[in-house]
Amino acid sequence: MTRTTRIYLVGAGVIARFHAQAAQRLPGETQLIVADPNPAARADFAGRFPQARLFDNATTMLAEPAQSGDIVVLATPPFTRLALGTQALSSGRHVLCEKPLAMNAQEAEQLLALAKARNLLIGCCSARFVDTPTTREAKRLVDSGSLGAVYHATFVQRVQRFRTGIEYQPTSRWFLDSSKNGGGIVMDWTPYDFTMLNSVLAPVRVEVVDAWLANPATHLSLPAGTVFDVEEHAGATLRFHRADGTKVNVTYERASCTHGEARSVLEIEGTQGAVRWNWLMIGGKGELTHTTDVDGKPSSVTQTFDKTELPPHDRPLHYLWKRIAGQPSAAVVNADAVFNFRCLRAVYDCANTGQPQSIQREGQA
Ligand SMILES: NC(=O)c1ccc[n+]([C@@H]2O[C@H](COP(=O)([O-])OP(=O)(O)OC[C@H]3O[C@@H](n4cnc5c(N)ncnc54)[C@H](O)[C@@H]3O)[C@@H](O)[C@H]2O)c1
Repeated sequence: MTRTTRIYLVGAGVIARFHAQAAQRLPGETQLIVADPNPAARADFAGRFPQARLFDNATTMLAEPAQSGDIVVLATPPFTRLALGTQALSSGRHVLCEKPLAMNAQEAEQLLALAKARNLLIGCCSARFVDTPTTREAKRLVDSGSLGAVYHATFVQRVQRFRTGIEYQPTSRWFLDSSKNGGGIVMDWTPYDFTMLNSVLAPVRVEVVDAWLANPATHLSLPAGTVFDVEEHAGATLRFHRADGTKVNVTYERASCTHGEARSVLEIEGTQGAVRWNWLMIGGKGELTHTTDVDGKPSSVTQTFDKTELPPHDRPLHYLWKRIAGQPSAAVVNADAVFNFRCLRAVYDCANTGQPQSIQREGQA
């Protein structure tokens, strides 16, 4: 079944363009409506998407009567989430929030309460990499018991220089300012990491046992007045509690800047085997290696995957559209979106207080 979908984009910056392309590829007719107070961003957007209706503020845009199936995409910096999310849900529309979901756990809970009260969905774009073919296969190995009792996971993704706001997208310096982004690399990338790990390992509770944050010093010539007070390297010792009472210890590390070497490891170990995989499948390609014991020796089988169903930036909007249409989808919405987000905020809380943190999945107390 196809329908006309109205996509309301709040923000006409870099990621909004990808959502606009994704909107054009939805089944059926799509109308594109966009609000951004920045005239240059609106002009750029209008040049790329001449069919879009443009507004200079979200309040006027969202004042038109809602229709069922309308989706508002929040494609603005995180410090705007609570106000814009409240406005969007109050207008009677489903909301797709860019990652990170909010600035802090309280804001996320407030938005969830409003979505529930209005019987609407609030989805998070942290679902962007949750359902790649390699990750689906890794999850199948975990769920089928092929790995035996799963007891340890390693997640290490480190690059030497790829700070958003410096080496990547230097036009958006707000990524470096904790009052605008709520933090650094953990707000920027950890939403994806927890969304994937929570999907594959399906914990009912996540403990952040220990955590640390750092900002390695490098030569920089940022414009005068630029605020740069966020972490670009972080790590945590996590413990995932599963519904069957087992625990998985997770060694977690993320860096967009380090004086150490670049490293990329994603591996889950169980008593009967291990799986190591490339989960992002950037460029549509990925590998998964399953290692077991054969006659006392390690034996590995590597599968290659060369296709994903959708480009990464199409996924969040297409997933939410399907969920609203009642179709199976990998959308991450409402309590699940908040659970993932609370896990990453717990990394900050643990690092800042020195106290372990525990996050319970809703309904799993
Ligand atoms: N850039 C990327 O590659 C990328 C990828 C995935 C997710 N994201 C996420 O998307 C969000 C936006 O990032 P971006 O890179 O598009 O930023 P950007 O700086 O390119 O664009 C943000 C836009 O929001 C507009 N804006 C600010 N306040 C607004 C308001 N109240 N109403 C309407 N518009 C407003 C700004 O004028 C600007 O045009 C962030 O949360 C980011 O983490 C970005």
